Amino acid sequence: MKILVTGISGQLGFDVCRELDRRNIDNLGISSRDIDIAEPDAAAKVIKQYLPDAVIHCAAYTKVDKAQAEPERCWAVNAQGTWNIAAVCRELGIKMLYISTDYVFSGEGEDFFRPGDPAAPLNVYGMTKLAGELAVKTLVEKFFIVRTSWAFGRNGSNFVKTMLKLSETKEQISVVCDQTGSPTYTEDLAPLLCDMILSERYGIYHATNSGVCTWAEFAGEIFRLAGKSTEVLPITSAEYSAAAPRPFNSRLDKSALTEAGFDLLPDWHDALKRFINEL
Ligand SMILES: NC(=O)c1ccc[n+]([C@@H]2O[C@H](COP(=O)([O-])OP(=O)(O)OC[C@H]3O[C@@H](n4cnc5c(N)ncnc54)[C@H](OP(=O)(O)O)[C@@H]3O)[C@@H](O)[C@H]2O)c1
Repeated sequence: MKILVTGISGQLGFDVCRELDRRNIDNLGISSRDIDIAEPDAAAKVIKQYLPDAVIHCAAYTKVDKAQAEPERCWAVNAQGTWNIAAVCRELGIKMLYISTDYVFSGEGEDFFRPGDPAAPLNVYGMTKLAGELAVKTLVEKFFIVRTSWAFGRNGSNFVKTMLKLSETKEQISVVCDQTGSPTYTEDLAPLLCDMILSERYGIYHATNSGVCTWAEFAGEIFRLAGKSTEVLPITSAEYSAAAPRPFNSRLDKSALTEAGFDLLPDWHDALKRFINEL
């Protein structure tokens, strides 16, 4: 078994390659230093050279606010780039696992979104990730789409690292308290993705750490676990005024995982504790 992983220089791709190494599975991780997936033929060239049995596609344009100002580039990477990879997977008849996001949903109500619920993204990033999903569903026969949320991991920047850095100079930090979702430790998600790609239980899944919180509650737990005295000042999304609108409700229903015989990820408090200890 040989697996090509995109996005190795990011949070999730890095942990997926590490997990494949742990399992002694041949893998090749690539980043934008190797190819620009938006370029026609670039993905085809590298995939056809390596000839993997599967591709785990973690690479993406992930700057959610910046995407509002440069939608063409975000589309090129997330929609066209994913189409380019999916087209090669189709041609070679190999498996593809695509990572998507809670931002494909509008976030209305308080119910947990199920994989089959209608998507209605609120921002450019979410729209381009949804277009990536459509490319995968349209082109690839043996596909997995895994929607995750609020990712943090050792390799790359994320909310946890930002909060810890800010706490070095600030006694109080304003954090949004009206968006609810699930933090996800990429080191916990990576083994699940490896289990999936080795299986034939294709489909669309939601996968995050268990439990939900607001960003303000998440920040509070980060400071508590890190022994910081920094105070969290809860503010609304309207007060924070980010360039990209975000869903208020990012609760994702994970029951498709258990129905297919996959393990659920641990609770986010536990995941955060392990991450902070590692840092
Ligand atoms: N982060 C989150 O909170 C979150 C939430 C939900 C879903 N997701 C999804 O989860 C996946 C992994 O996210 P992450 O947090 O690990 O992302 P990340 O840390 O931002 O890493 C993104 C990766 O994509 C690569 N990349 C970007 N543009 C590229 C291009 N044009 N050609 C080739 N490679 C390119 C980057 O390479 P370089 O470093 O070389 O540029 C990097 O390796 C993504 O699909 C993302 O949409 C993330």
